[in-house]
Amino acid sequence: MNADGRTRLDQTPEWTALAKHREELGNLRLREVFAAHPDRGTAYTLRVGDLYIDYSKHLVTDDTLRLLRELAAATDVFGLRDAMFRGERINTTEDRAVLHTALRAPRDAVVEVDGENVVPAVHAVLDKMASFADRVRSGEWTGHTGKRIRTVVNVGIGGSDLGPAMAYEALRAFTDRDLAVRFVSNVDGSDLHEAIRDLDPAETLFIIASKTFTTIETVTNATSARTWLLNALDGGEAAVAKHFVALSTNAEKVADFGIDTANMFEFWDWVGGRYSYDSAIGLSLMIAIGPDRFREMLDGFRLVDDHFRTAPAESNVPLLLGLLGVWYGNFLGAQSHAVLPYSHYLSKFTAYLQQLDMESNGKYVGRDGREVQWQTGPVVWGTSGTNGQHAYYQLIHQGTKLIPADFIGFAEPVAELSDELGAQHDLLMANFFAQTQALAFGKTPDEVRSEGVPEELVPHKAFKGDHPTTTILARELTPSVLGQLVALYEHKVFVQGAIWNIDSFDQWGVELGKVLAKRVEPALTEGADVPGLDASSRALVATYRELRGR
Ligand code: F6P
Repeated sequence: MNADGRTRLDQTPEWTALAKHREELGNLRLREVFAAHPDRGTAYTLRVGDLYIDYSKHLVTDDTLRLLRELAAATDVFGLRDAMFRGERINTTEDRAVLHTALRAPRDAVVEVDGENVVPAVHAVLDKMASFADRVRSGEWTGHTGKRIRTVVNVGIGGSDLGPAMAYEALRAFTDRDLAVRFVSNVDGSDLHEAIRDLDPAETLFIIASKTFTTIETVTNATSARTWLLNALDGGEAAVAKHFVALSTNAEKVADFGIDTANMFEFWDWVGGRYSYDSAIGLSLMIAIGPDRFREMLDGFRLVDDHFRTAPAESNVPLLLGLLGVWYGNFLGAQSHAVLPYSHYLSKFTAYLQQLDMESNGKYVGRDGREVQWQTGPVVWGTSGTNGQHAYYQLIHQGTKLIPADFIGFAEPVAELSDELGAQHDLLMANFFAQTQALAFGKTPDEVRSEGVPEELVPHKAFKGDHPTTTILARELTPSVLGQLVALYEHKVFVQGAIWNIDSFDQWGVELGKVLAKRVEPALTEGADVPGLDASSRALVATYRELRGR
């Protein structure tokens, strides 16, 4: 029994049934499964919006999927989902509602938090962002000296960086090519240095993105950026007003920093940092792609929200993806999950998902305050697929670990590619299809032998196969499709957190390191004594000071 009176997850009949099923299933061979069910390649597929999802190459049967859905029902995933959409405070450890879905609600929707409809405020901010983005894009908004803005530098970290940075990269082909956006996140001064060293301050706009406006990395970089600007441009507050805007929930801290709150774009505590790039945190992206395309992206998010909210369990894609992860993580011992986009534009997508998934579900304490007795979130990793093929795919194909993977690809290259470069797309996608085929079906020793391979090399050249993959295919990577993909993963993460009975919306695990860094800093700079510092850290700090000549 959990402390909240619910039956412990691993003691529910549904969990036990899955464990028994896993034993009975033994090692499922995908070659055999496909031979026995020739229609599996079309039967085990779903569509949501523009996304075609093939889950046929998974180590599951109809029974597995049914038992997993029963587990979802027993853990009331849809009940928690409805509570989230209703604006209930499901982030219990922070006592907050979880309403990133309200960020993409239509203008006439009603979503209440504590009896207040938040949708008008969401749209008021979107309108304010749109008018600002239009002014920057058209050149109407100028810098302090009257020059037009040529580069936007987003200063933020975690959710205030990864989302807009990923989406800017993903939608490069839709951006105004005369306006560049750069992203600075690391408190390592070299990040800011490299981002601004070749810029003209008079043509640079800094967007300081921080939900709390207390994050040390961001406030430090923002302060250095302000110094850089003011060293180049006279003008004090007036110059800051033309070159700095803020994205935050914390007007007081924004004002303390010296940014006019008229130049602040607001969001709310019911938007988690890692769920925020479709809020004001997306301002750099909106400036790059324009308000219309930003809204198309929100439409894409909404499409998948509606699907998650209304589709029955059998055809609910986020539910399915979440359940497959539970199957591998809790019943087949997988520790990680690879996300492998076959689009160079999605090169930051996996890094973005790392925060979304690992900061949400990397928890060992359940919603009831007790340590959970089952595996929770996986290690999420990966890079764009073709590059990965020449780096770490060896381990996925012939290593000893079970690594479920998502392959994401597109039928069309982006429109602006020349004919010649566009023609490379078929080669890219041939790799995309070949990899999931090789992973699933491998190559038997007999097949290797039949190619005349010497016997001693046969074991080396054979592939066992049965490496599970999901294929997500869409026609083209558009703003809407990006929104659909992100919402799909947001809700997948939600499903898993609901099943594991953890609060997917807090992140207490990042606090301890922050507190210790504050304590250690005076030891580095002034040689101050840090009471209670362990012997290893003490010696490291001493060596650091010695190396720095202090
Ligand atoms: O330290 C983790 C974290 O709190 C993330 O959850 C968040 O996205 C990031 O820091 C940045 O926070 P903020 O937007 O408040 O600067």
